[in-house]
Amino acid sequence: MALIDPVLLKPRLGHLAGRFDVDAVDECDSTSSELMRRADRGAPAGTVVVADRQSAGRGRRGRTWLSSPEASLTFSLLWRFPGPASRLSGLSLAVGLGLAQALEGLGVSGVRLKWPNDVLIESEAGFAKLAGILIELASDRRGTQAIIGIGINLDAPSGDFAMPVTGINQACSPSPDRHVVLAAILASLVGILEKLTVEGFFCLKSEWQRYHAWQGEMVQILGDGAAPLIGRCLGVDDDGALLLETGGGIERIHSGDVSLRPAGSALGVRPA
Ligand code: BTN
Repeated sequence: MALIDPVLLKPRLGHLAGRFDVDAVDECDSTSSELMRRADRGAPAGTVVVADRQSAGRGRRGRTWLSSPEASLTFSLLWRFPGPASRLSGLSLAVGLGLAQALEGLGVSGVRLKWPNDVLIESEAGFAKLAGILIELASDRRGTQAIIGIGINLDAPSGDFAMPVTGINQACSPSPDRHVVLAAILASLVGILEKLTVEGFFCLKSEWQRYHAWQGEMVQILGDGAAPLIGRCLGVDDDGALLLETGGGIERIHSGDVSLRPAGSALGVRPA
């Protein structure tokens, strides 16, 4: 039986229940791939596919995403925006913010955001990844369709990962029911996505920075094959680009991986 029962989810969504059409499946290749196929067949905005198992889960930057049955919440949400994709540069940050606010509302402590959109938990042991977000956009004359894929660890997965990992059950006591978690996230996303549509990321920026793991700290940007860039992280701009103060001035970073650099490092300059 699938882990999420849409009948149990509905009352938890309250007055927002009509905004979502949730389908829970035992297994699919990837909830985002499955939702994309359904979107191509005309599925409405608010369609959600949640799966217990993914045989080909996809992460950012071409990575695979492993999720364990019972120990992960793995779903994708279809949303449609008016206008071109270029107006949605802050979308992935906005989704991260929606997730952070929902998790904090459930009593998860130490929620932080890592640009562009990882959700971390900060504890005495340091930072650990709790959730990842994968956004895929497609535009046409009518506007832009977003497939918002979210993978959350309920329990910390075992295995080798690029950074330490954790789960909601480790960061929150008592552990919330997964229907409560999913409903809280969907409700939070409705508010955030509507605000993004009407007012733009500009209005969400300071709230995003409140959760930012490394606001004002030295970070290292690892780009695609480029030499690492080191600088002080000033936050994000109105388009969601990361602002990095380097020896060569303020750089706007649009893509890359951020990793924490020990405080006190000299400001770096990107090699010519
Ligand atoms: C990351 O690399 O951090 C993003 C991971 C996103 C994984 C989610 S799980 C649900 C959805 N389906 C996928 O295949 N990927 C996303």
